[in-house]
Amino acid sequence: MKSAKRRAPHLPVGEEAAARLRAAHRVVALTGAGVSAESGVPTFRGPEGLWREFRPEDLATPDAFARDPKLVWEWYAWRRERVAGCRPNAAHRALAALDKRAPDFLLATQNVDGLHALAGSRRMVELHGSLWRVRCTGCGHVGGDRSPFAEIPPRCECGALLRPDVVWFGEALPTHILERAFAAAREAEVVLVAGTSSLVYPAAAVPEAALWAGAFVIEVNPEPTPLSAKASLSIRGRAAEVLPMLVGEGAEVFH
Ligand code: APR
Repeated sequence: MKSAKRRAPHLPVGEEAAARLRAAHRVVALTGAGVSAESGVPTFRGPEGLWREFRPEDLATPDAFARDPKLVWEWYAWRRERVAGCRPNAAHRALAALDKRAPDFLLATQNVDGLHALAGSRRMVELHGSLWRVRCTGCGHVGGDRSPFAEIPPRCECGALLRPDVVWFGEALPTHILERAFAAAREAEVVLVAGTSSLVYPAAAVPEAALWAGAFVIEVNPEPTPLSAKASLSIRGRAAEVLPMLVGEGAEVFH
């Protein structure tokens, strides 16, 4: 565990993080693939990460889709199938509890798996879209559900190809979603960052903006990241273990 300049020296980091979260009125949580790892959803980077086995430029760019929509859709269909069998874990549930408790709250997730919503999070933005939505490349219609596709690549009623409603490399995040996340981060007293490598921008800039604006930023990750040195507190641990403790009512859980 790492301590930061502004932390109270008399408190263990977990206790201080829990106390900061309890006292704050305006809280933002930023999550990444690590939060779903313990539900069985693969992360992108790291030894078991998807980008070890697959190349993003073949599967997660507009060019890849233009070149081979069937290949891209087969990959997304495989991921949908895999995630369909996964359930929210204790980290998702802790963040849903924080959503209910904090007077002003926003969860900004980079995850496209829908597990936060399944766990009960409501005040939430999906920065990178959703595996469960499709968008028509012709008429722009957005829809979708969790059922498997009748054909791959799937088509819209208008006849044009559907694409996953996710943000690919080289694409911009929807402006209104990004603005909501940054506005909340700049206003927040506490920002909790869990399970992200903090390598992918603009999402990685959300806690940076919060730090600039004076927020207390708590990172939870078993590994150090580029955010670790800048965060007010960086807690080394798994999200499903640490987040329930941070959101739990008593600081004694850390003893
Ligand atoms: N609890 C908390 N963190 C964990 C856990 C866990 N149980 N297991 C792994 N992690 C951490 C890893 O140490 C790593 O820092 O989760 C992070 C996962 O990093 P990435 O795989 O890079 O995922 P993420 O940060 O969400 O990636 C951002 O990159 O490829 C794109 O669009 C994709 O949204 C994704 C974006």
